[in-house]
Amino acid sequence: MNKTYVWDLPTRLFHWSLAALVAFQWLSGEFKDQLLEFHLLGGYAILALVAFRLLWGFVGSRYARFSDFLHGIGPTLAYARALRANAAPRYLGHNPLGGWMIVALLAMLALQGMTGLFARDEVVGGGPLRHMVSEHMGEILTGLHEASFNLLLLLVVAHVASIVAHRRFKGEDLVRPMLTGYKDSDEASKKQ
Ligand code: HEM
Ligand code: HEM
Repeated sequence: MNKTYVWDLPTRLFHWSLAALVAFQWLSGEFKDQLLEFHLLGGYAILALVAFRLLWGFVGSRYARFSDFLHGIGPTLAYARALRANAAPRYLGHNPLGGWMIVALLAMLALQGMTGLFARDEVVGGGPLRHMVSEHMGEILTGLHEASFNLLLLLVVAHVASIVAHRRFKGEDLVRPMLTGYKDSDEASKKQ
């Protein structure tokens, strides 16, 4: 069986630490009265991970690059149509729809982290930049920080659901390669 090294170590470390940190942010956000201090630290770590991934999208290995998985609207729609007809080609890296999902996740995480910097809480303080904006703007950004988390959760649910669907309908396990780095590259239908 031929195996191709698809996900480099930094991409894998990025992914699993991001997933763990988002779970931690949820928990520490819900229990902010006791855990806000750690919530801020987790938030900085996520912002750093997002910044790293943006950089890695330009200088990382082949399949980690944006140029490998970001396609224009035409090819993305063509892929979606092929998917509906159960004739979608297999990609070793991210497929065109998955590529745009990654952009959406990174954008939501950046928004979440940046609004957090200005968010405030009457009891336990807030983000380090909260004094830079008016009280009214602070309230708006805090509201956004709370609301956008729901959208982020929705994206994460869709992300995990698509991985489960991939397994169920195409019989391909995507999780293992995100752990080991390697994908089986034997199938004739693969797209390099
Ligand atoms: C908060 C939770 C999560 C977030 C924010 C998240 C985010 C992401 C991002 C940004 C990528 C792109 C990786 C890259 O190229 O850098 C990705 C890929 C991936 N994620 Fe997640 N993820 C989360 C949870 C999970 C979970 C729980 C699983 C396991 C079921 C999972 C499985 C995968 C897999 C298999 C890929 C690769 C998809 C492919 O082969 O194209 N993720 N995820
Ligand atoms: C991207 C990662 C982040 C996620 C997923 C996240 C998520 C959350 C959640 C779920 C809450 C609870 C909201 C509620 O009360 O309903 C919260 C509250 C809060 N977060 Fe974050 N957060 C993140 C980053 C940050 C950062 C970087 C900061 C500041 C440095 C921050 C500061 C705050 C503050 C001050 C609150 C309390 C505000 C309030 O009363 O709601 N967060 N966050």
